[in-house]
Amino acid sequence: MAKQEDLFKKVISHAKEYGYVFQSSEIYDGLSAVYDYAQNGVALKKNIRNYWWKAMVQLHENIVGIDTAIFMHPTTWKASGHVDAFSDPLIDNKDSKKRYRADVLIEDYCAKIEKKIEKEVAKAAKRFGDTFNKEEFISTNGRVLGYQEKINNILSRMGKSLEKEDLADVKAQIEELGIACPVSGSKNWTDVKQFNLMFGTKLGADAASAMDLYLRPETAQGIFVNFANVQKTGRMKIPFGIAQTGKAFRNEIVARQFIFRMREFEQMEMQFFVKPGTQTEWYEKWKENRLKWHLSLGLGKDNYRFHDHEKLAHYADAASDIEFKFPFGFKELEGIHSRTDFDLKAHEEHSGKKLRFFDPETKTNYVPYVVETSVGLDRLFLAIFSNSLVTETLEDGSTRVVLKLPSILAPTKVAVFPLLKKDGLPEIAHDIINNLKFDFTTIYDEKDAVGRRYRRQDANGTPFCITVDHQTKEDNTVTIRYRDTMLQERIAINDIATIVNKDISFKKWIG
Ligand code: GAP
Repeated sequence: MAKQEDLFKKVISHAKEYGYVFQSSEIYDGLSAVYDYAQNGVALKKNIRNYWWKAMVQLHENIVGIDTAIFMHPTTWKASGHVDAFSDPLIDNKDSKKRYRADVLIEDYCAKIEKKIEKEVAKAAKRFGDTFNKEEFISTNGRVLGYQEKINNILSRMGKSLEKEDLADVKAQIEELGIACPVSGSKNWTDVKQFNLMFGTKLGADAASAMDLYLRPETAQGIFVNFANVQKTGRMKIPFGIAQTGKAFRNEIVARQFIFRMREFEQMEMQFFVKPGTQTEWYEKWKENRLKWHLSLGLGKDNYRFHDHEKLAHYADAASDIEFKFPFGFKELEGIHSRTDFDLKAHEEHSGKKLRFFDPETKTNYVPYVVETSVGLDRLFLAIFSNSLVTETLEDGSTRVVLKLPSILAPTKVAVFPLLKKDGLPEIAHDIINNLKFDFTTIYDEKDAVGRRYRRQDANGTPFCITVDHQTKEDNTVTIRYRDTMLQERIAINDIATIVNKDISFKKWIG
């Protein structure tokens, strides 16, 4: 555990030191759970967004993208159910005066039991060596099965209580499990209460006539209210999808874990409109498709798992999370939700406008069902960044810190160094950059010994370093050095672009 906490601290400090993520308004001591993306962070974030957009919109003939406003007519949020039901169950500790999400306290308790399972697995793996079969061990070992059953029972009871709005039972469960305040160790809890997460604001100059607005808590509603516009103007036929990326805002009470849970964050969502009755088939297809997309980034199959929801949101008939193994354990990265016709029907009722699809084959109208995929861009950034940060021990016993970002996402693709700051080498290095910069992000560096420059770029995640030396002047060749293998080879200047292009090709990555 301490090791994991250390790793997470390293991730946060590396993100700051290398210009990825800063605390918002840091000079005023920051604003809790609000962050700024710095010069490298913004590039990484843009590349991740682009990787998603291309996979969802460019690769699917039947998915189009839009970009809707953050402000929406306030009735939107009444119709969507967010005014009445978008809340978290909160509990206060009377001694520490700290506030927690009651469901998170219970989930954290289960995560501790899960750690015990992991320990049993690790012990058995050591005992059995190469013959160890993890799947078999998990499904037959008495102790592991006991732990798993305990987790299932706890989560199932919590899910049912939350669904029935039985908050007294959620409190009873916290007390029965003996959950203590992580800060004070006290078990002196208040009752559990619901707290709405939407931020309110006003539109209009004078207080009397100003209209109450909300900052959107999800981008999805901008898609729903534009369903008919997009369907007609794009001549879209069911099944089809509408994708968008953009900011969302939630007044998160338990905002912690860096950019994992923020008050202002970015979502990448796609609503897929299908014929009623086919939603289960599409739900399964999108679960599979989205996991495949995540796996294409090469962060390791074992770092992902599905978690099917016990407690369903007010709009869903099925829901599953793709969880990722963050430095603080498995947590939700993306949600795949079968949202039924809840949203379109609700907007029809509240707006009085038809949000239907006319099926030319059956000559009938219907309100489509929706399967949604929704991933947090900041959460994905954290998953990729934290997984890529490694400290390696080299053959000579020294260590290097390297950010092994998928090369297609790296903020800077190529660093170019002149070996010396003289003899015309800087000019050649600049010429190389001036040629490459139309297609790739590049950086010029002439400070310190080349070894130190390599280390700097390793820590920054730059996949290729090019060194210009005296031989370059004779035969137009340079040394290319690869971040992950540290291999160096001599290549022609004219081959740099081909090598880089091949490595960062979208087709290659998405597979
Ligand atoms: N439209 C459905 C929806 O918003 P959600 O499960 O509440 O569903 C979807 O959110 C995704 O948005 C989550 O899986 C997570 O990646 C991201 N997300 C939600 N709240 C967040 C927060 N406070 N900070 C960062 N990301 C968040």
